[in-house]
Amino acid sequence: MRILSGIQPSGALHLGNYFGMMRPAIELQSQGEAFYFIADWHSMTSLTDPALRRRYTLDVALDFLACGLDPVRTVFFRQSDVPEVAELTWMLSTVTPMGLLERCHSYKDKVAKGLSFNHGLFAYPVLMAADILIYDSNLVPVGRDQKQHVEVTRDIAIKFNELYGPTFVLPEPQIREEVAVVPGTDGQKMSKSYGNTIEIFGEEKVLRKKVMSIVMDSRTPQEPKPDADKNLAIQLLKLVAPADVAADFEARLRAGGLGYGDLKKALFEHYWNYFAPARQRRAELAANLDYVHQVLREGAARARAVAGQVLARARRQAGLD
Ligand code: TYM
Repeated sequence: MRILSGIQPSGALHLGNYFGMMRPAIELQSQGEAFYFIADWHSMTSLTDPALRRRYTLDVALDFLACGLDPVRTVFFRQSDVPEVAELTWMLSTVTPMGLLERCHSYKDKVAKGLSFNHGLFAYPVLMAADILIYDSNLVPVGRDQKQHVEVTRDIAIKFNELYGPTFVLPEPQIREEVAVVPGTDGQKMSKSYGNTIEIFGEEKVLRKKVMSIVMDSRTPQEPKPDADKNLAIQLLKLVAPADVAADFEARLRAGGLGYGDLKKALFEHYWNYFAPARQRRAELAANLDYVHQVLREGAARARAVAGQVLARARRQAGLD
């Protein structure tokens, strides 16, 4: 089984990225042949600073390796190091109905907010389809916000297979229900574009402040809270604390007597400890960047070997050979 997923280097990675995609992806490494990549081409639809892109790309590499990606077992690479993907994107775009892309949330959201958008953002799901199809991927672990894109990928693959004969494997999204949408400090989906993120790594003081800024209501500590399971800090605590500890805090909040400040302090401590081993590994990796660059170079070579074969198949089927 081939497992594939990608992540954009468009800012520091946060708990939504980690619990929604990175942790499931890391766990899946033992279940098949995993291909994980840094989607630097995708980041061009929103980020136009070359120095920042370089920095964020390296940051994603450090973050993923620190969190447990095993570069021996898993093929880990940078999207733009596999130019075959760009050629396949063109081929797929010629079988992609406009209506399919016009229905995509990523593009519709920008339009609804009156934001300007470029053709790259509109065509983004076609590039994503090429990312997935070029490695004959079976399973794509993602957060819920990417589900539609995997469905579009299937539609495009089906269309190509109908027109040119069997060419592409149809992928399945894998979405873990309990972390499909990790909430941010304001209760909306945690997202860089909403400014509500808690990063995986960063300065303790800054991150403590972010955790303490999680929005709560104005009920007094003494009041019982029958909706304790909906509390944002409790939801995040369930991700980073042992189950019995999180259950105990939830019970105390429900009964009344636990103040929000104390709850958030406990959340911070558990969150900080949860990532302590990864923080240590990240510091070691950051002191050995040659190794990190080498991992990406070797990953790219392994990825290209597969991409070249699938692209040759697609060319043959389409009469381009
Ligand atoms: P990106 O970089 O926005 O996010 C990376 C992964 O993190 C997940 N995620 C979340 N999951 C749960 N709760 C949240 N609050 C949350 N925020 C982010 C996303 O669902 C995603 O899985 N288009 C992709 C990158 C990509 C890709 C691909 C993914 C490019 N090509 C091919 C899979 C296969 C993206 O922008 O993800």
